[in-house]
Amino acid sequence: MKAPYLITDANRLADSFTTLPEAESQPVVIMISGLPGTGKSYFCRRLAERLPFLILESDALRKQLFTSPTYAADESAYLFRTTYQLIEDLLKKGIPVILDATNLEERHRERLYNIAERLKARLILVNVQAPIELVEKRLKKRADNKNNQDNSDADWAVYQKMRMTAEKIKRRHFTVDTSRDITPVIDKVVREAKR
Ligand SMILES: Nc1ncnc2c1ncn2[C@@H]1O[C@H](COP(=O)(O)OP(=O)(O)OP(=O)(O)O)[C@@H](O)[C@H]1O
Ligand SMILES: [Mg+2]
Repeated sequence: MKAPYLITDANRLADSFTTLPEAESQPVVIMISGLPGTGKSYFCRRLAERLPFLILESDALRKQLFTSPTYAADESAYLFRTTYQLIEDLLKKGIPVILDATNLEERHRERLYNIAERLKARLILVNVQAPIELVEKRLKKRADNKNNQDNSDADWAVYQKMRMTAEKIKRRHFTVDTSRDITPVIDKVVREAKR
């Protein structure tokens, strides 16, 4: 049985969206994965300019659920259970969504694979990558610019730690290297989503 506060929190997050993309009969769900600073959020924003998607950015949701996030394991576990509940509710209504989160471990990704299968939603996987030297530059710039609009607090130390936990995606997926022009991959994902 799901804890009642989890349902309440998922509903509270759902109520915070002021505009939603139009419902579809078989909605697409896009799962983004990649280490901090690789350019996931940037990619999602560019993609959502091309096709109407609701972006669920894990760090933004975390800050709505927890006013002073600790990034502790139990906090992340609760965040993801709530996020998956929210995705399920949105897909049931036909709303196309993008999950913008690191999604580094297969056992975490599998939860979304299962939801998509059960709800007959179309799942598209995108792995976002960037050369380590570029990520280091981006994350050091982020740390120097504390007043930015960035929802993520991940820094270079977090990147180095998370790098050890990243697992290869076993399913068919798109890969984008954000040190290069991302438009060709955006085009491919758009084409796949429109099929
Ligand atoms: N394709 C790109 N071209 C130019 N700059 C980019 C590109 N992708 C990302 N950046 C820049 O790199 C920085 C990190 O990108 P972004 O915030 O999208 O990473 P992220 O993967 O979402 O990180 P996190 O996991 O910490 O949320 C940002 O300043 C962003 O503007
Ligand atoms: Mg991000």
